Amino acid sequence: MKAALCRQFGGPEVIEIDDLPDPDPAEGEVVVDVGAVSLNFFDTLIIRNKYQYKPDFPFSPGAEIAGRVSALGAGVSGVALGERVMAYIGWNGAREKAVVPAAALAPIPDSVSDAVASGLSVTFGTAMHGLCDRGRLAAGETVAVLGASGGAGLAAVQIAKRLGARVIAAASSPEKLEIARANGADEAIDYAKEDLKEEIKSLTGGAGADVIYDCVGGPYSEPALRATAWGGRFLVIGFAAGDIPKIPLNLLLLKGCDMVGVFWGSFTERHPDRNAANIAQVMEWCAKGELDPHIHGEFSLNETKAALEVIDRREAKGKVVVCP
Ligand SMILES: NC(=O)c1ccc[n+]([C@@H]2O[C@H](COP(=O)([O-])OP(=O)(O)OC[C@H]3O[C@@H](n4cnc5c(N)ncnc54)[C@H](OP(=O)(O)O)[C@@H]3O)[C@@H](O)[C@H]2O)c1
Repeated sequence: MKAALCRQFGGPEVIEIDDLPDPDPAEGEVVVDVGAVSLNFFDTLIIRNKYQYKPDFPFSPGAEIAGRVSALGAGVSGVALGERVMAYIGWNGAREKAVVPAAALAPIPDSVSDAVASGLSVTFGTAMHGLCDRGRLAAGETVAVLGASGGAGLAAVQIAKRLGARVIAAASSPEKLEIARANGADEAIDYAKEDLKEEIKSLTGGAGADVIYDCVGGPYSEPALRATAWGGRFLVIGFAAGDIPKIPLNLLLLKGCDMVGVFWGSFTERHPDRNAANIAQVMEWCAKGELDPHIHGEFSLNETKAALEVIDRREAKGKVVVCP
């Protein structure tokens, strides 16, 4: 099989396309012929040895896949050869065949494409876990999403809207905000030009946003916290800007608000059933046409490097998908 391989640490330029022997599934595992693999910001970190997971060489980037089951390991039941499935596997997704624990599989309805299904685990799973489990979002509340056009941010915009929230998108250019609006955002703030705190306050009649979904960190977290409503929830999602902000704790006291950590990967390990229920809900919305995840673009396996470069250049709008 062909695989996009990382054999040394570095940027997207280190990725090579090469042949590997077809894998055999061990007990409890299946082989999936990968139709699509979605890439995430952390794929640009894992190939640089800057991520918490450190797979052995050679490995493929790509943590979330969709495709068809092509081989069953011993003891596997409840899944059939040829069945369409999706899974979160951490890495080794950008290849023609991936080995997956059978317990990690979820079925894909006929009306949902591999490209869409491949992108539902990480960013949509995080949006559900963040907004519902950790953020206690209620319909009618206001959510401000920072980095609103990226993979994690746009998923949060779409899920928050589906949950009945009023959504304020914050991003660094008019083009990015246009994508956020097209995917459900009610309001838009260009934080490269506008004052984030003042704009959120002005869009909420001075009250502030009930929920902040912060995928960016850096210079934007504190202004967003200062524009959080009394009793609000500030969700710590990620630090795409690089710097991890240090927050004055008096702001939490003054606002009677919560700062809440959201770690989807750890949540899936500790509460696999609750994550499976979240993903099943997202899949059902997609199957019914009530949720239409935005795909930045679809790349061939040979173009995996180019796909990673899109994320590296801060250009990704929604999901970046490789179709082996
Ligand atoms: N907590 C969790 O469980 C969890 C799950 C998934 C992802 N995450 C994290 O969420 C963050 C976003 O991930 P993603 O996959 O959505 O990434 P992405 O698609 O590349 O989007 C990141 C966004 O961050 C903004 N940004 C600001 N400064 C940046 C910089 N220096 N470099 C790159 N982007 C910058 C960009 O928006 P603007 O240009 O509009 O500022 C960009 O759209 C990452 O830190 C990731 O690790 C966390």
